[in-house]
Amino acid sequence: MAVANVAPSTESQDDIELISSPLTLPNGLVVPNRLVKAAMAEGIGLGGGPPREGHMNLYRRWAEGGWGIIISGNAQIDPRQLASPHDLTLPSHPSTLKAYTRLASAVHRHDSPTPSAPLLLMQISHPGLQSSATINLSRWPWESAIAPCSDRPTVSEGPVGWFWSHVMWPTKSRPIVDTTEWLEIVKRFVDAAVLAEKAGWDGVQLHSAHGYLLAEYLSPLTNPDTKPLPDVPKDIPLRLHLLYLILKGIHQNTEKRFIKAVKVNCSDFVQGGLDETQSSEIIKTLVSWSLLDIIEISGGTYSSPAFASPESLKSSNPNPSRQSLFAHFTTSLLPSLPPPPDGPAIILTGGLHDRQLIASSLKERACDLVGIGRPACLYPHLPSDIILNPKIQEGDAVVGGYRIPGSELMKTLLGASNPKNGIKLVGAGVSTLWHEWQMCRIGRGVEPDVNMHWLRGAMVEEMWYEVMRGGPLNWWRCLMG
Ligand SMILES: Cc1cc2nc3c(=O)[nH]c(=O)nc-3n(C[C@H](O)[C@H](O)[C@H](O)COP(=O)(O)O)c2cc1C
Repeated sequence: MAVANVAPSTESQDDIELISSPLTLPNGLVVPNRLVKAAMAEGIGLGGGPPREGHMNLYRRWAEGGWGIIISGNAQIDPRQLASPHDLTLPSHPSTLKAYTRLASAVHRHDSPTPSAPLLLMQISHPGLQSSATINLSRWPWESAIAPCSDRPTVSEGPVGWFWSHVMWPTKSRPIVDTTEWLEIVKRFVDAAVLAEKAGWDGVQLHSAHGYLLAEYLSPLTNPDTKPLPDVPKDIPLRLHLLYLILKGIHQNTEKRFIKAVKVNCSDFVQGGLDETQSSEIIKTLVSWSLLDIIEISGGTYSSPAFASPESLKSSNPNPSRQSLFAHFTTSLLPSLPPPPDGPAIILTGGLHDRQLIASSLKERACDLVGIGRPACLYPHLPSDIILNPKIQEGDAVVGGYRIPGSELMKTLLGASNPKNGIKLVGAGVSTLWHEWQMCRIGRGVEPDVNMHWLRGAMVEEMWYEVMRGGPLNWWRCLMG
């Protein structure tokens, strides 16, 4: 990427104008532009809890960067069911509201150099059967994850895959059979949304993608024996009962201007899981309830992490339209949905890392808003510095062109390098961790480093700063309940 001294081309100007255009949501709130910082677990701290100083610094940087919406990393509604030991949680303690309020103020602050502050959404989440006791250390290894079924993720076929999945999930998940337990989960989601509103956040996003609990409820593979939940109208499909109760609960307990969003898979990309036909039916039904302001489209689960591909962002593909992972799905779905503000705005996330591609996705209505994940860890000011910067020529406004030093070595060592039967989850994890470490760097006031070797990240950012200094005591308290 190079800064040009020449005047921007008409094409650049048109694209920038389109991406900069505001969008009104069904609840009346206006998104200042079309760029969304997608939800990314920040990797800061240890043992759960509300945002820390590192989160404040990181979100301040994003807030200055010209994003239209900033979505937080997954905040887990149950502190014993984490996706990572660094996840945000919402303990019932007065300091929780205080910390989330501080974070919202850091983003909405009035002296921001950008003309309009971004909207801030809290992604609320439950990892379901993918919560690994071994990795997240929030419960003893023999305590199961919970899910609609009894299972453990299949990370790949063969003995190496068997080994990894049994190390990460020593026990299969415990199936939830009791309606009261489902209603308790509904309550936790609704309480989290109420807290977010009290803390000054603009809304919440329900994480119903990537094989997490709400996605497991939608999938025929992980929820084969769906039972009705109480107080749901008869015409609501069984598989949507859980989402309906949560959305209804949030709707009844928050103001109209509080944004309700959901992230769903267009496909699970696993045999027997949710497919594109089922997903488009689900989305059409969700839209028909008129409860949602935003729907984000992603895809994949831990067994098949499509949301993390391509693992190496450096693309040798000259045809940029093929970098957008799920655009074929949204392009065929969107003509049947009312455009915002009559219907929810659609965010498309995954591989949309250059201005031209972002603009063409909006022009062709593959989406109304574009979600950007990984590059936002390296370029917190990505919208204002690159995508919306008229000094950056069209062909240079590309942010995905980097390789992770040492990642190939790690993938080989961990059995993930073979494109056929390598463990995709490990490959995705290698990339995800490196990006988390970049966010940790911003959090402690240091610039991200695109040349950081993976092993240096593991030793310095992870082991030293987040594990050793991030609060082993906090983790111990969390484990002891
Ligand atoms: C470090 C990291 C953490 C992530 N954490 C979350 C998360 O908490 N919730 C979520 O829905 N997606 C999460 N994702 C997936 C991103 O939101 C996004 O869907 C994915 O990175 C694809 O977008 P991209 O190609 O622009 O990176 C994460 C991705 C990364 C790289």
